[in-house]
Amino acid sequence: MRRLAIYGGRPLQGELKVQGAKNAALPILAATLLTDEDCEIANCPDLTDVHAAIEILQSLGARVSYDGSTARISPSGIRHCEICEELTLKMRSSIMFLGPMLRRCSTASIGYPGGCALGERPINLHIQALKRLGVEIAEDEFGIRAKIQKFQPRILTLAFPSVGATENIMMFCAVSQGETLIYHPAREPEIVDLQNFLNAMGADIQGAGGDVIHIRGVAKLHGARYVVMPDRIAAATYACGVVACGGDILLKNAVAGHLPVFLDCLRNMGAEVIYEPDSIGIRMHGRPFAVGHIRTEPYPGFPTDIQPLMMAATLKARGTTAFTETIFENRLCHVNEFLKMGAEIETENCTAVVRGVSNLSGTTVHASDLRGGAALAIAALSACGRSDIEGLCYIERGYEKFVPSLRALGGDVEEV
Ligand code: UD1
Repeated sequence: MRRLAIYGGRPLQGELKVQGAKNAALPILAATLLTDEDCEIANCPDLTDVHAAIEILQSLGARVSYDGSTARISPSGIRHCEICEELTLKMRSSIMFLGPMLRRCSTASIGYPGGCALGERPINLHIQALKRLGVEIAEDEFGIRAKIQKFQPRILTLAFPSVGATENIMMFCAVSQGETLIYHPAREPEIVDLQNFLNAMGADIQGAGGDVIHIRGVAKLHGARYVVMPDRIAAATYACGVVACGGDILLKNAVAGHLPVFLDCLRNMGAEVIYEPDSIGIRMHGRPFAVGHIRTEPYPGFPTDIQPLMMAATLKARGTTAFTETIFENRLCHVNEFLKMGAEIETENCTAVVRGVSNLSGTTVHASDLRGGAALAIAALSACGRSDIEGLCYIERGYEKFVPSLRALGGDVEEV
């Protein structure tokens, strides 16, 4: 079994160019179904989830070339809109293809999405919104069959600001007759990136990132060239690494404005944060301070994806930090692995209370989801001795060149 071997105890130093954002690239790839013309998606990160999205596009009949950075998609050959469960189970974001497929073929069938096991992860908000917009949907044990009955533009209010549901609605309504408003949408920067891509294709969408998204449907979209935004979660990962280990790093292609609450926390922990237009510098000397209570929330609150990473950065902090996970009910799996390394953590329901210790000891630990896996790598970098991290395939879902990136920052890491 492939694993990471990490010898901890070194500070992190150096510069790193942050990859393109996974969570922006995946819906953008799905949105290329909305045109017949060629699209070129640059800064598209080289990850297993991106490869899974490309496989889906190809299975539908699109021609796709990918050189590890730019994806070129020719969707004109797509004649059917069905994705089998074998492909959809490879990642959660497969559900993002439902809205664009429906728009392209008027009918669509799709297996249920897979992805990291962070909890139940229902898709009821996607289904409810599409039904309200005039789509007939039938579900059985194998997946979803959907058909546009009569498109009805609407004012939609989401019961929860789901990222995926917001994106599905935006893509479905971009090419339509009439205006749709989404109240209480997700406000993540990746939603803004999707809006920008759709508008580059000729859509007329405003308000992403704010309280209401206004979609004026257009008759047709054209091809576009687009550069995917930087990955704020990858940037936060390396930033947590330097807080845990000490050192001085410069993250290039990183936007501080995408990480407001997180960077405030780092400053409270004693890190020096240097803000530049397209980069973030982080300096840390000595043990970090604990940060009180972190509660995950939809953007602009503290991101759930950064919770495991931040927890890794607090394991050796001076004082106690509590984490309450409010987005996913099963997102504390990394706690048991941290305990094996000597961390002191008590959990009750969705809250974990970390009492900082002066040292962690390297050992064998097992990743069971993407961000939890990266968090184990951070803990290992700050521990004494060797750690072996199993479950590398989870980390590869979301991190491009993870091992070379950590090595570029001086981490003693190898894949074995
Ligand atoms: C996206 C991100 C993921 C991040 C998450 C929350 C991508 C590719 N993935 O996932 O990295 O952790 O946002 O920031 O962008 N929910 C429902 N019904 C639904 C949809 C969601 O109850 O129909 C619930 C989920 O179970 C979860 C919460 O809403 O508890 C957030 O989910 P959502 O925002 O939809 O996350 P994803 O789009 O799956």
